[in-house]
Parts: sequence; structure tokens; C-alpha cells
Amino acid sequence: MIQIHQNVSLKNFNTFGIEAYARYFVEINHKEDLVELFSDTQWHDSPRLIMGGGSNMLFTQNFDGLVIKMNIRGIEHRINHEEVIIESGAGEVWNDLVTYCVGWEFAGMENLSLIPGSVGASPIQNIGAYGVELKDVFESCEAFEIATGAFKHFKKDDCKFAYRESIFKQELKNKYIIVSVKFKLSTQAQINIKYGAISDELLKREIVHPSIKDISLVVSAIRVSKLPDPSTIGNAGSFFKNPVLSKIKFDLIHAQFPEISHYLVNNEVKLAAGWLIEQCGWKGKVVGNTGTWKNQALVLVNHGNASGDEVLQLSDAIILSVKEKFNVILEREVNII
Ligand code: FAD
Ligand code: EPU
Repeated sequence: MIQIHQNVSLKNFNTFGIEAYARYFVEINHKEDLVELFSDTQWHDSPRLIMGGGSNMLFTQNFDGLVIKMNIRGIEHRINHEEVIIESGAGEVWNDLVTYCVGWEFAGMENLSLIPGSVGASPIQNIGAYGVELKDVFESCEAFEIATGAFKHFKKDDCKFAYRESIFKQELKNKYIIVSVKFKLSTQAQINIKYGAISDELLKREIVHPSIKDISLVVSAIRVSKLPDPSTIGNAGSFFKNPVLSKIKFDLIHAQFPEISHYLVNNEVKLAAGWLIEQCGWKGKVVGNTGTWKNQALVLVNHGNASGDEVLQLSDAIILSVKEKFNVILEREVNII
């Protein structure tokens, strides 16, 4: 039986730690709860916000509608020769799922260790870190179609995954609620250490033949050294995407800034937004209650009682200065509510 609550504080439900109230709030523990919820037609036209761990959101106002907090639990796996299919409820904590897989020595997710948030949100922006993206381990997901009340399955090709992108952020935005996700992993370790920071850290630890667990530990250690822990300092990870430029545009900027931090991706060039922001003098800067993180300029933080608007204004100022210095327009990665 679902329960609709009113005027609920979302401060403890978003990792920025921003105070904002939901007019209505419901927790979903089973996929059938969604059928029950939407059998009441008032929720079809009401503004709705689906929430997992609230680790990729910035509230700039109260939410005058229904917040749907996804809590569906359960992790199961099936082994077929070397292939492992894992199925997880949308409300599982992403890193609990990674820990489960690392514990069983199922390979594929270890580079995605310690990313905050829920399993259900992982396909939304095709989460990625340290040389691996969700799409590399994604098999399919099941989602509730709000307009029809039907449950549908999406295979990898249906999802149009790209860098921090999927169909769920574009044409299907707010139309489906993901209830479970299936992943394809392997019992055979295929270690991926192409990201420089991982190989450097392995070298430092004198690990020559890393196990899945070693990779998970090393990735977690790198993350802790760079990123602020949301339980002590509010943030939503990278606030902006790394900009991807055509080779022609990149060459123009490169000629002026030969030391620019960049990577080749197919025929395009990805710039490190953190580097651009640091070059504009923002790294570690405190602006009122907000600022950028001292070890990673791409992360905007809440130093205490910041409002969402303050953080948004800081992000505007950063976009402006990066545009002025490099003629590059940063795009926000965090969802602004
Ligand atoms: P939420 O913030 O609750 O929601 C995000 C979006 O997904 C919203 O649009 C929401 O409506 C939608 N959504 C959530 N659940 C569902 C669902 N079940 N069905 C449909 N829509 C849904 N991201 C990376 O990719 N790589 C990183 O390395 C990384 N590092 C981070 C480090 C820190 C310290 C923090 C705070 C964040 C980091 N992030 C990173 C961002 C964040 O962890 C991911 O975007 C994560 O997937 C968000 O999960 P969530 O459950 O908190 O989503
Ligand atoms: N850099 C700087 N100054 C900074 C920050 C970074 O010069 O303040 C330089 C670094 O020295 C490095 C390069 O930028 O040469 C890249 O830095 P890093 O390895 O920290 O990764 P990133 O590109 O800043 C991306 C993701 C992260 C993900 C890491 C690891 C985006 C927007 N961000 O950050 O994802 O964890 O790579 O793969 O793609 C997130 O999405 O929330 C997130 C944290």
C-alpha cells in the first residue's frame, strides 16, 4: 500500500544538501506500487520528479508536484559458462551492486566503484568513470510507461547511450520510470587499466597482476583523494560535462594553449573541463556559501547553507569565464530542478 506524504523536506535526499520541499512525496518499494500510484489519474498531469539517491540534482526551488522516490530492492545473478547476468532493483545503491559483483569476482563493474546514487539512475546519464561506461556492462532494463501503465523492456541499442547521455534524458525524458536493470558481466577478469591514474596508483602499490578487487580498491582510493564526500560536504560530482570539440576547433584552441588537457575520442577531442575551470582561477575558490572543490575544480560544493540559486549563479559565472578565455561553452551535467 503506497502512502503519499505532503510537504516533505528533501534536504536529506539530495547530496548537495540543499533545502527544498516536495509538495507530495511517495516511496516506491515494488513495481506494482507504480501501477497503484498511477491508477489515480491526478498524478498523470501533475509535475513529477523521479528520484534515486539525489546525487545528480540541484534544487533551486521547492518542487510543486509529486516526488517519486525509488526504493525497489533485490539483486540476483545467473551464471552461464563465463557469462553472468545480474538483475538489480532500481532502488539498490549503485556501489552496493558493485561491491556484490566484486565480492563474487564478476568482472566488468570494478572501474565504476564508489559512484554515488542508485542502480535505476545509472542508465539515465550512462554513468562512467576510469575508462568504463555503464553501456559496457548494460544488458537491458525494465521501465514503467507512465502514459499507459505498461512495463517495457529496453535493450542496449534502444537506449542510445553516449557520453553522459541516453534516450531517457532526451526523447523519453519523464515518460518512463526504470524499475530494474540487467547487466552482463564475466567470470573471467578482463582488467581495464587504460586510465592513467589507475596504472600510476597500481605502480605505486607495486601491484603487477591486479585482481578485480585491486582495481576496485585503487579506483576507490583515487576517487576519495579527488572528490569531496557528500556526507560531509554537499556536492553532485562533476557539475559540467567535459566538452567535446571538432578537431578543427580544437586545433585553434591548442595553438593558443599548447598545454591544454585533452583526449582524442574517435575523430573528436574531449577537453578536461576541470582544467579549463582551474585555468580561469576558480579551483578551490569560496564564493559565499558555495565554491569549487580544492582538489577538483569541476565539482561545485555547498560549504554550508548554500541555496540552489547560489550554486547556479556560480556555475553561470564559471561558464562565462571559460567562454571568455577559451571560447568553449560548458554544458551542465547536473539536473537543475
Ligand atoms: P538522481 O540524482 O536521484 O537522479 C538523476 C536523474 O535520473 C534525474 O533526472 C532523475 O529524475 C532520474 N532518475 C533517477 N532514478 C530514476 C529511475 N528509476 N527511473 C527514471 N529516471 C530516474 N556520475 C558519473 O557518471 N561518474 C562519476 O564518476 C560520478 N561521480 C560522482 C561523484 C560524486 C561525489 C557525486 C555526488 C556524484 C557523482 N556522479 C558521477 C553523479 C551521480 O552519481 C550519477 O549521475 C548517478 O547515476 C545519480 O544517481 P541517483 O540515483 O542519485 O540519481
Ligand atoms: N584537471 C585539472 N584541474 C582540475 C581537475 C582536473 O587540471 O581541477 C585535469 C586533471 O589533471 C586531468 C584531467 O583534468 O588531467 C581529468 O581529470 P580527472 O581524471 O579528475 O577526470 P575528469 O575528466 O575531471 C571525469 C568525469 C568524472 C569521473 C572521472 C574519472 C565527467 C564530467 N567527469 O572527470 O565523473 O569520475 O572522469 O573517470 O566526465 C561525475 O560525472 O560526476 C564524475 C565525477
